[in-house]
Amino acid sequence: MTTSHESAHAYFGGMAESYDSLIRRAVPRYAEMTERLLTYLPSDSKRVLEMGCGTGNLSLALVERFPNSTLTLVDASEEMIALTRERVEARFREVTPAVSYVVSRFEDLEFPAGSFDLVTSSISLHHVRDKALLYERIRELLADGGRFCFADQMRGEPESNHLVNWEQWLAFCRQSGNCTADELAGLVDHAEAHDHYTPVSEHFSMLSRAGFGEIDCVWRNWMWGIITATAAQELN
Ligand SMILES: C[S@@+](CC[C@H](N)C(=O)[O-])C[C@H]1O[C@@H](n2cnc3c(N)ncnc32)[C@H](O)[C@@H]1O
Repeated sequence: MTTSHESAHAYFGGMAESYDSLIRRAVPRYAEMTERLLTYLPSDSKRVLEMGCGTGNLSLALVERFPNSTLTLVDASEEMIALTRERVEARFREVTPAVSYVVSRFEDLEFPAGSFDLVTSSISLHHVRDKALLYERIRELLADGGRFCFADQMRGEPESNHLVNWEQWLAFCRQSGNCTADELAGLVDHAEAHDHYTPVSEHFSMLSRAGFGEIDCVWRNWMWGIITATAAQELN
């Protein structure tokens, strides 16, 4: 596995074909987390934005879950967007869902304010260092009352909790049938270069400052967690 990449999306773009196999061997309870995230998405969301579609594992479920909505799938990796498009078109050939594919960094997204009723994401936003700014931008993209629901890797708090989570992750990766030593070295190298883990308490504060309310952590397993929030009527 190649380990040196300038950005998180270059790293993922370079492994687009092997991603699906690796992610299930490298993220404990990956399928359960995706299912749980879906459980919390309001079914009446008409305009849905997914940030960091990767190979489309959540995207495919979103197309099924929101058959009458418009979906916008964003990823900075052209390879990932191409793969997701291929999978969506192959699976939903008969129905032609209303899906747009956007190659863009999260930091550079350009949609008018209030463009979405739901913004969702799975294990992608921890690649952004400045989450306060990101959450302000996401709040602007949402209509009042819209929902922001995402799964991601979080920092444990205090640091001793984070170390427990980190060791548990390494132990999971090393289990027989999961990651090879080379794969694990690549993952750790990527994490050190591109991952920015934030404690749940800081996510809550930044979300609140950005104009979100009803903030909840609805699932947690070691480093991974799911946070849901509502775009408040009035900005704080
Ligand atoms: C770990 S993958 C997650 C993919 C998928 N959501 C899943 O749950 O399997 C992270 C994705 O985020 C994308 N990504 C990382 N940083 C990004 C950024 N700053 N802007 C846009 N996309 C980014 C990567 O290209 C990659 O496809």
